[in-house]
Amino acid sequence: MSNKRLIVALDTNNFSKAKEIVSHLNPEQCMVKVGLELFISQREKILEYLTSENFEIFLDLKLHDIPNTVSKALEAIQEFNISMTTIHLKGGKDMIKAASETAGDIRLLGVSILTSLSENEIELTYGIPFSNLFQRLLGIAQESKIDGLVCSSHELQYLKEFKGIKVVPGIRNQVVDDDQKRVMSSSEAYALGADHIVVGRPITDASDIQKKIMEYS
Ligand code: C5P
Repeated sequence: MSNKRLIVALDTNNFSKAKEIVSHLNPEQCMVKVGLELFISQREKILEYLTSENFEIFLDLKLHDIPNTVSKALEAIQEFNISMTTIHLKGGKDMIKAASETAGDIRLLGVSILTSLSENEIELTYGIPFSNLFQRLLGIAQESKIDGLVCSSHELQYLKEFKGIKVVPGIRNQVVDDDQKRVMSSSEAYALGADHIVVGRPITDASDIQKKIMEYS
């Protein structure tokens, strides 16, 4: 497991903007996350750039499809220098198995429930309480060969026995009203057992990025 606790989410579609953010980051201090927006718009160009700058890359594509498609996508990802990547646990046991068989040296993380979804919305969508859905997904993850889980800091309480990597987005040290619903501060998340936290806008939109890196590290 990487000893860099902080993962900075480079959520932009613009190569120059990504480069500008990266110019404030130190590869010894943090990992970087490339998500859908940046990967779809800049593809291997951004991955090659980040590799040349010695960054460890978390490619967060949250794959969710039939087992064959996910497994083939993971085979294709092997050509990049990626340290961790994601699939949705809701893809089911067979999909997770197929994914872990082709992930190779890339650590495979299962996304449980997006941090942008409120407990109410989960109950409305799935018809069961939030904690029941989370426990079911956790059970599926534990029976699989997945390397870790992505969840909000509120669910870390259920992961005391979980041996894999715990990656936690939805981190806010200041109160802001945005799309993230299940949030907590960085110090609370680390104290509850997060191995890595993922922070985007609070760092990338800040006027003093270095100061924010120190605050969230
Ligand atoms: O800007 P912000 O700090 O909200 O960015 C959080 C990042 O973490 C985004 O890139 C988002 O895609 C990702 N993420 C998340 N919730 C998950 C999994 C990943 O917010 N469950």
